[in-house]
Amino acid sequence: MTKNEVEKLYKKKINLLKKYNKSYFDKNTPIVSDKDYDELKRDILLLEKENDFLKSKDSPSNAVGYKPSKNFKKAPHRIPMLSLANAFNEDDLLNFEKKILNFLSKEEDTKIFYTAEPKIDGISASLIYKNKKLIRGLSRGDGKEGEDITSNLITIKDIPKEIFSNDFPEEIDIRGEVFIQNSDFENLKEKFANPRNAASGSLRQKNPEDTKKIPLKFIAYTFGFEKGLKVQSQFDYLQKLSEWGFKINPLNSLISGIKNLIKNYNEVEKQRMNLDFDIDGIVYKVNDFALQKRLGNVANAPRWAVAHKFSSNKAVSKILDIDIQIGRTGALTPVAKVKPINIGGVTVSNATLHNEDEIIRKDIRIGDTVIIERAGDVIPHILSVDLKKRDKKSVKFIFPIKCPSCGSKTIKEFNATTKKRDAVRRCSSEGYDCEKISIEKLKHFVSKDALNIEGFGKKIVENFWKLKIVKFPQDIFRLDFDKIEKLEGWGDLSVKNLKYSINEKKNISLERFIYALGIRHIGMENAKLLAKYFTSFSKFKNFSKQSKYEELLNIDGIGETQANSIKNFFSNITNLKVLTELEKDLNVNNVIVNKKEGKLKGKTFLVTGKLNGISRAEVKSLIEENSGTTVSTVSNKLNYLITGEKPTKRKVDSARELKIKIINQEEFLQMLNKAS
Ligand code: IVH
Repeated sequence: MTKNEVEKLYKKKINLLKKYNKSYFDKNTPIVSDKDYDELKRDILLLEKENDFLKSKDSPSNAVGYKPSKNFKKAPHRIPMLSLANAFNEDDLLNFEKKILNFLSKEEDTKIFYTAEPKIDGISASLIYKNKKLIRGLSRGDGKEGEDITSNLITIKDIPKEIFSNDFPEEIDIRGEVFIQNSDFENLKEKFANPRNAASGSLRQKNPEDTKKIPLKFIAYTFGFEKGLKVQSQFDYLQKLSEWGFKINPLNSLISGIKNLIKNYNEVEKQRMNLDFDIDGIVYKVNDFALQKRLGNVANAPRWAVAHKFSSNKAVSKILDIDIQIGRTGALTPVAKVKPINIGGVTVSNATLHNEDEIIRKDIRIGDTVIIERAGDVIPHILSVDLKKRDKKSVKFIFPIKCPSCGSKTIKEFNATTKKRDAVRRCSSEGYDCEKISIEKLKHFVSKDALNIEGFGKKIVENFWKLKIVKFPQDIFRLDFDKIEKLEGWGDLSVKNLKYSINEKKNISLERFIYALGIRHIGMENAKLLAKYFTSFSKFKNFSKQSKYEELLNIDGIGETQANSIKNFFSNITNLKVLTELEKDLNVNNVIVNKKEGKLKGKTFLVTGKLNGISRAEVKSLIEENSGTTVSTVSNKLNYLITGEKPTKRKVDSARELKIKIINQEEFLQMLNKAS
């Protein structure tokens, strides 16, 4: 096996192990037999022993936490441990309350009181007390049956082993959350991906001594079965828990009215950054136990409770450095390198700063303590700077005036539409003159929507560039495969595969080809329009010689920005050279024009003003279906100007001047019917 293949195999096994661990530790449902699990671990350790370059933080040689001991005894919950329905916005909450009132057959304006309890993101546990003594502790398991983890739970200081209050029930199953504080997680982050995993892993240590080493915390919030509990509401129950010696969430409150729940939600969300534990929402519970009882459960969640989730994930971290990345179009994007931090289960170490203006506006500096937000799959970004934590010696960040890659001057273009300078600063060099832009252009050239050369990923582009194997797109079709085969990580088979995928993609449509060139402002949609207009590679290439760029404006969908960009592209000698060279290697297919003899053949149209009962898009497709074309400006190439309500005066005037036929909607539709 080559080094590359060994690495691949190792990664695959590590990922599998992670998957198994996740199911077991986080979801409580093992998906492999113990034997297979142990074998996988052995394989990984063996691979590491034989290849000392293999390393992973998820390796079993590394992880103290994920040391599975699957021999905890299973035990049923006398009352199931339920989950909660989620709410994400005001509507969901209104709906939640409406259902409750309907169910209870109460008036719409009935006041219902709820406890609002910040939802700690940890692992739930059930503690069974009999005659004031903790007799057993269970994990949630599948909700019906948990694992007996008593010996580990009793190592947690927050869990009272004995209660000394007189009013403590004879028997009660007290439930709550086991978690790790963020400050304590600092020392554990080498071993675990996030605080929740750390809590889950530690609770399952085979040896309670190992659990004891981890500073686990417990807060209580509900109960299962009970005998002798003398409170009538959730809020009173929470108070009692505290009196009995349990920790409760200090931010719990009692609230009525959805508007007030939202107010509290917003306030808690603001405080979220300053809390030492992760919360992912707020749990609302109908306060009155009698009402709770009447409401009961649906499936596996109570009707009387809901979890109002925070929509985005934020976290506090520190900016270690600011990097300037250069994109395919020369845009300089500042990226904050931050102290790695877990946000919603994902470790974040980079956050985009968008552009120079954003840095100036927020006065973001290296060394700053910042709030980072990560929402969905978008790149995390900096929300705000904590000025109180700023070092007195800190200095303003100066954005580079020269391109960090090629040294060319950087510019902020004037945007004709907004009449403002762009927020983005760009490298002023032309395409292939700047190393970083070149690399990005090559990555784009081979990417999925462009040439789509399989196995020619970003890493390979970077590597081949470094080794001076490729500099321009045409170099991809002239690779020295003998040389590549001798490179580290490459072998006979991988080279054969690469050769095959490159060859396969030599045959390409004109639209993909135009898109692959990476001309600024020409995405896939515009590339399609241009391909339809030019119909062949040679017409496209020769267009540069005619410099009739205003003609491009006749293509519906192509505006001045795009036309100018194409002009720029063709005025660069390197770009022309690339086209000449690629012509030798590629077979760019002509666009097959539908030669249908439609009623509008050879006729051009332009619409101005609002039409009645028919959209512009539909008119356009009607024209095209009938072999006509649409243009976007009034010129002597235009045959018909279709006018609707409130037409643009300028267009009508110039059509009159050029003696172009002006027709209304009806006349246009008649043209279509006439010949049929
Ligand atoms: S009540 C009967 N209260 O959220 C309703 N759960 O999605 C279920 N959680 O498994 C429990 N804080 O791990 C309740 N104040 C709180 C909570 C809370 C966090 C967790 C708990 C549960 C999950 C339900």
